Amino acid sequence: MSQRVGVIGGGQLARMMIPAATNLGLEFSVLAESDESSARLAATTVGDYTDVSTVLAFARECDVITFDHEHVPANVLSALEEAGVVIRPAPHALRFAQDKLAMRERLRDLGVPQPDWARARSVRDVDSFLASHGGRAVAKLARGGYDGKGVRFISSSAEVLDWCEADDDMLLEEAVSFRRELAQLIGRRPSGETALWPVVETVQTNGVCAEVIAPAPGGEGPIETMAADIAERVAAGLDVTGVLAVELFETTDERILVNELAMRPHNSGHWSIEGAVTSQFEQHLRAVLDLPLGSTALRGESIVMVNILGGPAQGALADRLPQALERHAEAKVHLYGKSPRPGRKVGHVTVLSDILEDAVAQARGAAGFFQD
Ligand SMILES: Nc1ncnc2c1ncn2[C@@H]1O[C@H](COP(=O)(O)OP(=O)(O)OP(=O)(O)O)[C@@H](O)[C@H]1O
Ligand SMILES: [Mg+2]
Repeated sequence: MSQRVGVIGGGQLARMMIPAATNLGLEFSVLAESDESSARLAATTVGDYTDVSTVLAFARECDVITFDHEHVPANVLSALEEAGVVIRPAPHALRFAQDKLAMRERLRDLGVPQPDWARARSVRDVDSFLASHGGRAVAKLARGGYDGKGVRFISSSAEVLDWCEADDDMLLEEAVSFRRELAQLIGRRPSGETALWPVVETVQTNGVCAEVIAPAPGGEGPIETMAADIAERVAAGLDVTGVLAVELFETTDERILVNELAMRPHNSGHWSIEGAVTSQFEQHLRAVLDLPLGSTALRGESIVMVNILGGPAQGALADRLPQALERHAEAKVHLYGKSPRPGRKVGHVTVLSDILEDAVAQARGAAGFFQD
């Protein structure tokens, strides 16, 4: 009997695991939030991922449980562990993708380079961090943030008064002056075997990933080595299984610092569906099932992924598809089956080319076609 992978969360990451699961002949189930979820095609359960009995009933039908997002609460994860469910990544690793303060503490203990940071719970803490960091800082909620929500660039404690009054501590970071942002993805099996894709450049607009270039231009040499070394150390140090995405800053003085971690396929790896021998979605499934990892070799010189953020004010995104395909035959279009809202990730486009500038122009053109 082939193994059944169960994914908690029905977003586009679960959706893009479906073709990979199909190709490998796996059984595949999704615990989706609603009938409208992006991964509804594979949803065997529609229910609440914070409800212990719902998640337990779902997990009992699966050989291994993995995730589309990091928001499953600790009490649900403990209940699964107590019931003997195989969870990958395991809760002891996942914790560091769920809680940015826990992540900063752990990375400090591992000696991994990261921005200056502090835990803060009061206006006084914020004022003193600002005073020692040139009057600027980045404040973050420790939990629950995504796509830049829960991240504020501040120059006064008044901008985070609400967070000072909340029960949870917040994370303060130095505002890093970076040349660019990078991401290093790595797959890791329970045995410890790893495979890394080349480091990529990511471009964020308003805190949301907009474009990814693989491989990162000029990323060979020291940058490549530092990024790979950090990802290997984090994956082993935290005992991650599955795909780990390490978001990085390349600073203006040529250091590489860790921004944050995700323990699942990540927006910075969508290019790998067409651009690598093994996509991040297939690698994640292989890794969580403890199957041999696939080659991460590139299938083109330059690969560019552009997100489709939001969409036409009127009319379904899908209505644009025929014309987009007609005009942009070189583009690989992915639509997530989500209804457009301003800034929402509803799809992406990938283009492979021998010439980076061509790939950028074509991918932007095709993605833009869905957004006007
Ligand atoms: N310390 C920092 N210094 C400078 N810029 C930062 C810093 N922290 C975050 N940023 C900027 O804000 C963006 C979002 O921050 P972060 O990745 O922590 O938030 P998130 O909402 O958890 O992200 P995601 O969209 O990846 O889920 C980063 O990609 C980067 O552009
Ligand atoms: Mg991020």
